[in-house]
Amino acid sequence: MRTAALIATIALTALSVNAAHAADVEAGREKSASCAGCHGVDGNSQTPMNPNVAGQKEQYLVTTMLDYKNGKRQHTLMQAVLTPLSEADIRDIAAFYASQKCK
Ligand code: HEC
Repeated sequence: MRTAALIATIALTALSVNAAHAADVEAGREKSASCAGCHGVDGNSQTPMNPNVAGQKEQYLVTTMLDYKNGKRQHTLMQAVLTPLSEADIRDIAAFYASQKCK
């Protein structure tokens, strides 16, 4: 009995830890406000010079944004906008853009 309760507690703890770290599409939508001017509110850019990010692969978006942030992919402007964001913010934004339809 005691073991079962312990296992249940561990399982619940693991679940809530996972939930806390899972990328959040709605949080990503809010966090992408500063990106909308260039990439569009839903990730479909209105400007020929700026890429669409809607419907892009989530893992690719995370990787390339982290690359900009740490300077592995060089773009002064993108590095500047991503510098204040945490990896969790970047994961949320990636989940949001990946969930949008590329038009
Ligand atoms: C002032 C305009 C501007 C703003 C603001 C901006 N971006 Fe960008 N973004 C660009 C441009 C231009 C590129 C292409 C850069 C390059 O050549 O690598 C780009 C590239 C990207 C890429 C890579 C796309 C690909 O196909 O590889 C991602 C992802 C991205 N931006 C996400 C964001 C996010 C998230 C924000 C907000 C935190 C943001 N951008 C804010 C202009 C902007």
